[in-house]
Amino acid sequence: MSQSYDHLHAQSIEDPESFWGEAAEAIGWFKPWDTVLDPENSAFPRRWFRGAETNTCFNALDRHVASGRGEQVAIYYDSPITDTRRSITYAELLDQTARFAGVLQELGLTKGDRAIIYMPNIPETAVAMLACARIGAIHSVVFGGFAASELAVRIEDSGAKVIIAASCGIEPGRIVEYKPLLDGAIEISKHKPDHCVIIQREQSQASMIDGRDIDYHSAMQTAKPADCVSVSALDPLYILYTSGTTGQPKGVVRDTGGHMVALYWSMKHIYGIEPGETYWAASDVGWVVGHSYIVYAPLLYGASTVMFEGKPVGTPDAGVFWRIIQDYDVKALFTAPTAFRAIRRDDPQGKLIKTYDLSGFRTLFLAGERSDPDTIQWAEEQLDVPVIDHWWQTETGWSIAANYAGVEILPIKYGSPTKPAPGWNLCVLDEGGHEVEPGQIGALCAKLPLPPSSFPTLWNAHDRYLKAYFTVFPGYYETADAGFIDEDGYVFVMARTDDIINVAGHRLSTGAMEEVIASHQDVAECAVVGVADELKGQSPIGFIVLSAGVNRPHEEIQTECVQLIRKNIGPVAAFKTAIVVERLPKTRSGKVLRGAMQKIADSQTFKMPATIDDPIILEEIEEALKLAGYAKG
Ligand code: COA
Ligand code: AMP
Repeated sequence: MSQSYDHLHAQSIEDPESFWGEAAEAIGWFKPWDTVLDPENSAFPRRWFRGAETNTCFNALDRHVASGRGEQVAIYYDSPITDTRRSITYAELLDQTARFAGVLQELGLTKGDRAIIYMPNIPETAVAMLACARIGAIHSVVFGGFAASELAVRIEDSGAKVIIAASCGIEPGRIVEYKPLLDGAIEISKHKPDHCVIIQREQSQASMIDGRDIDYHSAMQTAKPADCVSVSALDPLYILYTSGTTGQPKGVVRDTGGHMVALYWSMKHIYGIEPGETYWAASDVGWVVGHSYIVYAPLLYGASTVMFEGKPVGTPDAGVFWRIIQDYDVKALFTAPTAFRAIRRDDPQGKLIKTYDLSGFRTLFLAGERSDPDTIQWAEEQLDVPVIDHWWQTETGWSIAANYAGVEILPIKYGSPTKPAPGWNLCVLDEGGHEVEPGQIGALCAKLPLPPSSFPTLWNAHDRYLKAYFTVFPGYYETADAGFIDEDGYVFVMARTDDIINVAGHRLSTGAMEEVIASHQDVAECAVVGVADELKGQSPIGFIVLSAGVNRPHEEIQTECVQLIRKNIGPVAAFKTAIVVERLPKTRSGKVLRGAMQKIADSQTFKMPATIDDPIILEEIEEALKLAGYAKG
């Protein structure tokens, strides 16, 4: 491949079969593909590498051990929160994974069965994911910050046969007992798993249910290693549930072949990493970034990955990222802008940065939310390396737009995640589906076909898949992000077009929060909007209208609504503010004017909608917001 971004991107659009066919040579296949990409007249969506057989775990572990990487560290586990560090070589990781795959097989888990993984950032989580991949089972990792009811939805929808969980997660100042949450979730779920494998952590011993629960460490002692099962390139590797526009999350399905090809390509060309080097994604395995860039991409590529159980600040201080970069000779770090805002808040002069040797560090990557230019510039000045913003979604599994550390770093324009990744034929459409002029805002869309790794369906919900992403603009994938592309081809992602908000890089649905608040007995109606937050980018606030005749103190009801969200969605929602108001502003047709409320809270000017029913209500909302510390003018 020629080493210019323009050339690579043009080739990927003009001749996707050659581009991805060549990229796929880096992967080990048990059987070659019949076609790189389904022909144009085939069923929707067109699939990559049909006919091929392979195994993701084989590519991530066995292949490297066979080629002499056995003694190289695969995972550096660094947990300042438990004061633990461990290095696991590829040979050790293969041994543990093969044995755990044997445990899962003994429990009856076979190809195509689902397993839920409810675990913190510990190496056993990677072992569990890879073990599922090894036997062709489909894993679904659930982030630890979700409540039992969210876990229950995922158990039920996936129909998981086995659940793999740790006894606890650890947050600063508190132990999060997973087992009671898990038991509660199984009780709520109509579908019951056959077995739960529990990893007892020394910080908390979970009580076990006889016959159903199995102790991980005991099972591993007697386990027989399992071999890799050959699966189709089209078979699902995992389901990852993400917020949709209703309380029912979307089960994003990732396939096997295209996923490996795209991730492998990205390690070299986007992240500029060589096999054997250390790469660190400071995210959580429960998110897509954790799936792709803590576990799969670095291991497929033969790099060493860092599994970090801690926070950017407070574990113990804002220097922890620099300590890890120094200790493991990290070449590239991938994290969310929020993490950098937190570090900057605690160490504005970057004094801690100067106490570590970061001479081996080459590039910082940010994603998950819009990178504000201020944060990027601060990071550039402090670290003296390129800071690359890149844009992606759970649905895609890798970048939609990025800069290319392994090809050429294109000049950076602050506020832009630079240019489309290979295979992404991006454009901006107006409401009528027409391409707009450069610089004009509209719906960011991608001309089909989507590149490898993009989701082929939503689990149990193919109609929702078609309706949510491909119906408004036929022939395009609707990203649900609004933005523009400038005259130089730089992409700018400005806001979501749906009710999704981004809180500390975590994707949350305000619609789902509204469903929860509406279930409160005293609430007649409500609206949740995401307002600007200096640290987390956005944070949710709720407006509540009480049912007629309710005369309990407002503070009481507000507190109950905050607790209800924590109980039903989880602490990760970071929902701390509910405000009782007399009425919600609406259009004459009854549509709640959430955008206007958000702008008032953020003290932004806005155009009074011509269709507003009663403008006075917005003044009432402003008063209520001022009392709650927002709308400062
Ligand atoms: N298990 C259980 N609870 C969790 C959790 C987990 N895995 N992760 C977060 N939580 C809880 C937190 O304890 C907190 O609870 P609290 O309300 O009782 O304090 C709540 O969820 C919100 O957590 P968080 O978003 O982490 O906010 P914070 O105020 O604790 O920390 C930052 C602020 C900036 C340090 C933190 O948000 C951060 O590290 N951000 C980087 C985000 C990131 O890496 N995103 C990945 C996308 S690439
Ligand atoms: P998730 O599916 O959790 O990865 O969230 C995806 C959403 O996060 C996108 O649709 C965007 O709204 C937002 N996002 C991710 N990366 C960026 C970025 N670099 N710039 C702006 N928004 C981003």
